[in-house]
Amino acid sequence: MRASTKNILEVKNIEVIYDGVILALHDVSLAVPKGQIVALLGANGAGKSTTLKSISTMLASERGKVTKGSIHYDGILIDKENPSQMVGRGMVQVLEGRRCFGHLTVEENIIAGAYSRKLSRGEMKAELEKIYSYFNRLKDRRQSQAGFTSGGEQQMVAVARAMMAKPKMLLLDEPSMGLAPQLVAEIFNIVKELNQKEGVSILLAEQNTNIALKNADYGYILETGKVMLEGTAKSLLSNDKVKELYLGISKGKRRNFRDSLKEDEKRNKHHGSKKKRRVIRQRRLRRKKGC
Ligand SMILES: Nc1ncnc2c1ncn2[C@@H]1O[C@H](COP(=O)(O)OP(=O)(O)OP(=O)(O)O)[C@@H](O)[C@H]1O
Ligand SMILES: [Mg+2]
Repeated sequence: MRASTKNILEVKNIEVIYDGVILALHDVSLAVPKGQIVALLGANGAGKSTTLKSISTMLASERGKVTKGSIHYDGILIDKENPSQMVGRGMVQVLEGRRCFGHLTVEENIIAGAYSRKLSRGEMKAELEKIYSYFNRLKDRRQSQAGFTSGGEQQMVAVARAMMAKPKMLLLDEPSMGLAPQLVAEIFNIVKELNQKEGVSILLAEQNTNIALKNADYGYILETGKVMLEGTAKSLLSNDKVKELYLGISKGKRRNFRDSLKEDEKRNKHHGSKKKRRVIRQRRLRRKKGC
């Protein structure tokens, strides 16, 4: 079965269960158009990493399973693939928590990303130079032991290593985690540049709604394993509920979508019944007056 060629990734109605009992995702659908950046937003435990691992087929290593729905990548149904086959198809995931080989140098870490490409010495040199043109900071630190570099530099190493595989699609899991705002901005600038110049499609899981939406084309908001809202990044940034619940621009107590929707429903019902009573009262009055 082939899917749309406009989208590099199509996730349809997936359900994910860990250990045969823990329902982590129910009915999650999303799409990433070719060459775009899509943000997957949500609080702790919303299901962002689970969604990314379902796509990169890394779930099995955590005893998780996609039990319903389908995932198409690059037009192909990926129900029987493994993570290394996915890398071969051009999909690379950068895991949460900037995982580097701490005992290797920055450059050795980056080179490790190209292991499946079998590059000649000259090609490797050219690829490294290209990578350093995006990650200027890493060029100065190329001989440093990765474990002794800063959190931001390690995050850059993780993204640079992923880029060495020459991916068509990158899955980034919370690149902003634990970093100072200036470094977050620097990393997002690089991500945007890679998207624009290298044409790599990106699915980005983030808790930092503001920076993610400022750099993405489209966004999905997840809550307790379900997509609660989706839209263009621009529309989500100006959405009142997103402002209130995810951007901290709120006068009241912060809630989640589920509570907020329930409250709206209650208010509408109450408002509806008040209106209904007024109409009945007016009708009775008119009847009394005989008109
Ligand atoms: N390996 C696992 N085994 C069992 N349950 C898990 C596992 N990984 C995640 N979960 C559960 O699945 C749900 C979604 O977790 P997930 O890590 O996908 O959320 P997240 O949105 O990435 O959160 P965070 O922002 O904290 O990284 C949570 O309830 C979590 O406890
Ligand atoms: Mg996560």
